[in-house]
Amino acid sequence: MDIQRIGIVGCGLMGSGIAQCAAEAGCQVWVKEADEALLAKGLARIHGAWDRGVAKGKIQEAQRNEWRQNLHGTLAFPTLAECDLVVEAIPERLDLKLQTFAELDRVLGVSAILCTNTSSLSVAQISPVLAPHRLPRLAGLHFFNPVPVMPLVEIIRTLATDEDTLATLRGFVQKLGKTSVMAPDAPGFVVNRLLVPYLLDAMRCAEQRLATAEDLDTAMKLGCGHPMGPLHLSDFIGLDTMQSVAEVLFDAFGEPRFKAPSLLRQLVAAGRLGRKTGSGFYRWDGEKRMEALPL
Ligand code: 3HC
Repeated sequence: MDIQRIGIVGCGLMGSGIAQCAAEAGCQVWVKEADEALLAKGLARIHGAWDRGVAKGKIQEAQRNEWRQNLHGTLAFPTLAECDLVVEAIPERLDLKLQTFAELDRVLGVSAILCTNTSSLSVAQISPVLAPHRLPRLAGLHFFNPVPVMPLVEIIRTLATDEDTLATLRGFVQKLGKTSVMAPDAPGFVVNRLLVPYLLDAMRCAEQRLATAEDLDTAMKLGCGHPMGPLHLSDFIGLDTMQSVAEVLFDAFGEPRFKAPSLLRQLVAAGRLGRKTGSGFYRWDGEKRMEALPL
């Protein structure tokens, strides 16, 4: 099945990025948010990205106008009734996700595919609120931040996901101009299972004063060709997110490498959550990383 009409629930950083890519790929995109203010903020983020593209001469005005027409907002689940695919991108709280999926299951057609963009919860945990006929059409679709730039999407199958659904999702990811990999429905999937212990290790190195934050980041950036060093990337992801992903992984595997270092806990407790609060390992001026802060 070719995905033509897609619903996105949640228009935060990830939801708006997914909506942007789908609208650019020619899909009719319906974004559902909880209230007018959140919806306006999410849509403004997407329009802002396109407007900056036009200002830089990277996007034609006619192209931007066409993409804008592909993008619609709503506050009501029933507006998503005709969607071929709905991707949920709301906060990582199972209770909220279960409520959302129960609503979606009620309003969507029988052939619609339901996906979660969760980065840490099990996809199969959503199954109990779905009708049995929907289970073969439930999967994970895990995007990476910033979604418009990062070329990977992990596709997560549960034991019930069928081959047609996986083929449709692979086609959809390709339509977005991205590459998919199949990942197991296990905590962290593939990327976070490998990435998170590395980032936590970098924090332990900072804690042990192995090197300054800047030197740790410069070492990995220039020594290994990474686009960002590990502390910079942790600030970029959000230190509260890092802590909660670490907790899920440590609960699941019990291995010390997944344990949130005490420095991470202290930064989170101090409200230094990284880019989103203007300070973490670094001070941030909006999107721009500034000097390292005392630890
Ligand atoms: N949205 C849209 N476009 C963006 C963007 C954003 N938020 N941030 C940067 N870009 C675009 C810029 O416009 C620019 O485009 P252009 O070359 O066409 O002009 C291009 O990306 C490069 O941007 P910059 O020159 O400003 O900066 P960099 O070259 O440093 O690239 C970066 C920025 C793409 C964020 C790069 O540093 C990077 O790839 N960092 C690593 C990000 C990463 O690892 N993400 C995964 C996090 S883990 C995750 O998401 C999983 C979750 O479950 C925790």
